[in-house]
Parts: sequence; structure tokens; C-alpha cells
Amino acid sequence: MCGIVGYIGSRDIISVLLVALERLEYRGYDSCGIAVSYQGRIFIKKTAGRLFKLKEILNSSPLFSHEEGETLIGIGHTRWATHGKVSDENAHPFLDCEKKLAIVHNGIIENFQELKERLINNGHKFESETDTEVIVHLLEEKIKKDHISEKDFLKALSETLKELKGSFALCLISPLFDFLIGIKKGSPLLCGIGKNEGMIASDILALVGICKKVYIMEDGEICFLKKDKVNFYNENGEKIEKDAQTLDLKVKEVSKGRYRHFMRKEIFEQPKILTENLEKRLYDKEILLGESFHLYPEDIKHITNIVIQACGTSYHAGLIGRDYFERISEIPTTVEIASELISRPFLFNNNTLMIAISQSGETADTLAALRAAKERKIKSLAILNVKRSSMDREADNVIFINAGPEIGVASTKAYTAQIFNLFILALYFALIREKINTEKLNNYLKELKTIPEKIKKTLLLDKIIKRVAKKYYNSPHFVFLGRGINYPSALEGALKLKEISYIHAAGYPAGEMKHGPISVISEETPVICICVKDSTYEKMISNIMEAKARGGRIITIGNENDKRLKEISEDVFYLPATIEFLTPLLVAIPLQLFAYHIACLRGCDVDKPRHLAKSVTVL
Ligand code: G6P
Repeated sequence: MCGIVGYIGSRDIISVLLVALERLEYRGYDSCGIAVSYQGRIFIKKTAGRLFKLKEILNSSPLFSHEEGETLIGIGHTRWATHGKVSDENAHPFLDCEKKLAIVHNGIIENFQELKERLINNGHKFESETDTEVIVHLLEEKIKKDHISEKDFLKALSETLKELKGSFALCLISPLFDFLIGIKKGSPLLCGIGKNEGMIASDILALVGICKKVYIMEDGEICFLKKDKVNFYNENGEKIEKDAQTLDLKVKEVSKGRYRHFMRKEIFEQPKILTENLEKRLYDKEILLGESFHLYPEDIKHITNIVIQACGTSYHAGLIGRDYFERISEIPTTVEIASELISRPFLFNNNTLMIAISQSGETADTLAALRAAKERKIKSLAILNVKRSSMDREADNVIFINAGPEIGVASTKAYTAQIFNLFILALYFALIREKINTEKLNNYLKELKTIPEKIKKTLLLDKIIKRVAKKYYNSPHFVFLGRGINYPSALEGALKLKEISYIHAAGYPAGEMKHGPISVISEETPVICICVKDSTYEKMISNIMEAKARGGRIITIGNENDKRLKEISEDVFYLPATIEFLTPLLVAIPLQLFAYHIACLRGCDVDKPRHLAKSVTVL
């Protein structure tokens, strides 16, 4: 959680930091701040609240005045509170007592209490309740205030790092130096270089438009970034060499364009993303899983079971994946919430395949479960969106979902791209394990190729969904029902609504209703029922009737020309027909749009819902 950034160069540093923070805001946004080193001093502004508040503060009282074109060094932070309440004092950056160091931090310093006590005894004054502040004071103890060589500073840094327990990424500035400092241990950090300028940030999105090359920092690494060169060191302060990669993202890909919200843009991008995935994954009649997939046919034949683990929306994609692996590849599969899995015994064997699903590739719980699997020599495969993420580096095999940057906190396009790739993977496993013949495979692929067009058609429901949302947006509670492969869709529909509209919503397997949940249905309860023409259709109809009989206001998602649904529902969203396995890809669209319109009608901040962060990097 938290986004950190640093810039060195001659652009308007305040604008650069604010744009970067805007792109990092998805990591947390309860407070923010910036600091710039100029003429031997550190200038700082920070506040509880969102970035627009910081902008207002900076507009009414500029940080300092300076000559255009001067090289300046600054840092910025957007916070998701862990230690210390949301307040101006607890917002980053933090300074040491002499105000010669400023720091921003992402992560947690686990031993901060004992360090803080020691530092207070040594006379240090603290201004916040955060764990972060100990770092600058600790470093301050180790450096002479007015002059210190680069070499001695590096030594002081590596001594400081040895005292810190926990996981963190740090960005530091000091008027004593003409460079920006980045340190990574456990939390993601990248260093990018442009033409006579450079940046350090938690996420590649912050570097887009400025940096041409990017270095992915590894745990224990330190970088000193000057405007025209960068030096890397290991945690002992020894110089190391690193290779840069080309930064291939364009500003267009990280902006909203003509859309009001990133979420809306991302919902509407889904046909394009699945078309691109089809191009990447299928060549002639061959399935291609990409260059980071290394499982040999022999390995695949020996898999005894699959354990899928993930969080949030990725977990729901995993539940759909289970259907694919069990019904198409015939491999016993379990799906685990990552944070629960890590506290259970791992009763898996050497022929278990762990599949970690994560949009960001950084979610701390998913990463921890992946690491636990690796320690036990269990083969792993990560299904990821973000390249060069921690899971990309740590999993034995990776399949990318090619969804492009997903910026809205609520996941939409990554979800359908995950389902798509899980389906392709299950087909591939089935082929190798001889559970599917060519004819059946070709039929599946033929239908898969129609999905982007069908999603496009489904997106035309937008206006109808908005109209229906107007009827229900004041309801205090929603129920979502599904069965079989669309039970996870019901969970996902409820999660989308909760996340962005703050309305309580619960998804249930429709057959389980009568065992308790049905008692929550009253005459005011909207019940969203997924009732496409699949093997569960008749049973779903019975469950709808049960909910209707208790006064529930029935909204159904079903197939075109299904007159029965019209008779039993107050509102219906019609989808094009497809095979059962692929229905979740179409069902997702009205669920996403419904949540989106309800949230807009309630005046919620769709892209940055309260309390949430897109990338949850704390356990
Ligand atoms: C956070 C986000 C969710 C996301 C989940 C898992 O909670 O708000 O939208 O589904 O993390 O993230 P991942 O990046 O691992 O898919």
C-alpha cells in the first residue's frame, strides 16, 4: 500500500510529482504530501485527504519560487494508513530533527516501537505516530550534519537498513546531496531514467511520459539517482551492475481519455483486450501460453491436483477456473483465499500445481502463499497482469493476461482477462492429458472467438442498466444469486457493488438460500439473479420464484428471447447466448455496469472508493 515517488530533473517538479501521485493514488489515498530540496533547505507540504486538497494548498501557498529550468530533487507520497490515524501529522514525507533528510515510505517497519523509544531517549523529537519517522531519525544519528561524503552516507544507510525489520520501499532526499535515493526491501520499487532526468517510484505508471528505461530493483538494493546517471548498491554498500529495460507504456494508456472514470474506460476496453488475447494465445490451431510458461508436457501429465489461491476479484476468477480445470482438464482443484491459505498447513504434494492469480502481482497475501509453496518445492504458476511485478519474478511459470494498466480500484477488465486465460490454460492441460479431442477443442475455440463481439453487444445495455439503476440506487442492501459456474459471478457482482457504492451486498449460491440467507429478503430487497440458459437454468428459476414469493424485487440477467424471465422479473438484462463455460465473461458486463451506475448515482468516488487500495501490499 501507499505510493511513493521521487523526481530529479529540470521540469516543473511540483507538477511532475502531482501527476505521478495521481497515477499512484490507487495504492492508497487517505493523505498525501511532497517535499523538495532547494538551496540547502527542504520545503514540504502535506495533508490528510486526497490529492486535490494538496493541490489547493499548493495553489494558495506555493512551496517556494525558483528559476525555471533548474535541476531540482523532490519526493511525494500517497498514503493508505497502517500505523497512525489519518491526519496531517501522519502524512508523509517526514523529516529528521535537523531537517536535513526527508523520507517517504511504503510498507511497515515492524520494530519501530523499540527503535522509537531508543531514539527518544537519545533526544530525538517525533512529530507523528507512524513507523516511518524512525527511519530518518535513525539515519540522522549516523550522519554528520553539515558534510558527509557519498561513501560515508552509503555506509550510514546500509547500517540503518540492518536495524530495520519489516518490508519497505523508501525514497529519500537531502540538501547534502545532489541525488535521489531509493531503497527496496520487500515492497516494490523501480528506478527510471529519461533525458537528464529520472524517477523512482512504487509503480511503473508513475514513470510514464518521462522515463525511457527502467530498472527493477531487487530486495536489499539501494540506488543513487543523479540527473544523468544512476548507481546501484547492495545492502552492504557494494556497487552492483543492473540491466535496464525499455519502458513501453504510453501516456494514453494511463489516462482516462474521453471517459469520466477509469472504471468505465476499463469496462469498455474488454472486447479489445479479449481480441488481443485471442491473437496472443491462439496461432492457427495451437495454444500459446507465452515465454514465461515453462511446464513440460510430462509435468502437466503428472499434476495430481491444482490449488488456486488469490484475493478479491482474482479469487472469484479462480472459482470459475476451478470449473474449467475440473470439468475440462479433469484435474481435482481447490480454490483458496490467499490470506487464509497462509495460516493453514500446506497438505500438498510435489505434483500439486499452485496457481496464484493476481492483477497486480504484488498482493502481499497471494505473494506470501506463493512463497510458502516455493519453500515446499510445490510447482507454481502465476496468472498476472503486471509484468516485472514481484510474482512475475518469483513464480516458476507465468501467464500474462494482457489487460493493460488497470487503474480503477475495482477490477473489471483484469477479471474477464483472467477468466479467458484460465479457460485457455484448462484447454491446454486437457489436450496434453488427452481429455479433449480436436473436434471438441475446435468447438470451444470457435465459440471463444465470438466472445469479444458478444461483449460489445452486451455493452449496449449500458443505457438500460443506468435506467434500472435509478430505480434501485437507494436500496440499503442487495442480494446476488447464481448457481454453478455463475455462483462466482454472483459473488463478484456483490463485491463490485460493495466496493464502489458502499451498499451492503451479498452473493449466494442460489441453492443455499433456503438454508438461511432467504430470511434477509423483504419487499424492499433487490435480488439480482443470474439465470442464463445453462445446466442450472431450471433450478435457478425455482430459486427466483422462492425469492419472489418473499417479496424480493427480481432483476435477472438471462439470455435474449427468454420470455419466461420477463414474466417473473421486474427488470431483465439480456445477453447473447454462448456456451455455459463462457457465460461468466458476458454476465460480468451488466454486473460491472450496474455497480458503476449505482455508485455514480450515489455520488461515490468510483475510481477511488473509500478505505480501499488497488494493490494491497501489507499482510
Ligand atoms: C484489492 C483490490 C481488488 C483486487 C484484490 C486482489 O483488494 O481492491 O480489486 O481484486 O486487491 O488484487 P490482485 O492485484 O492480487 O488481483
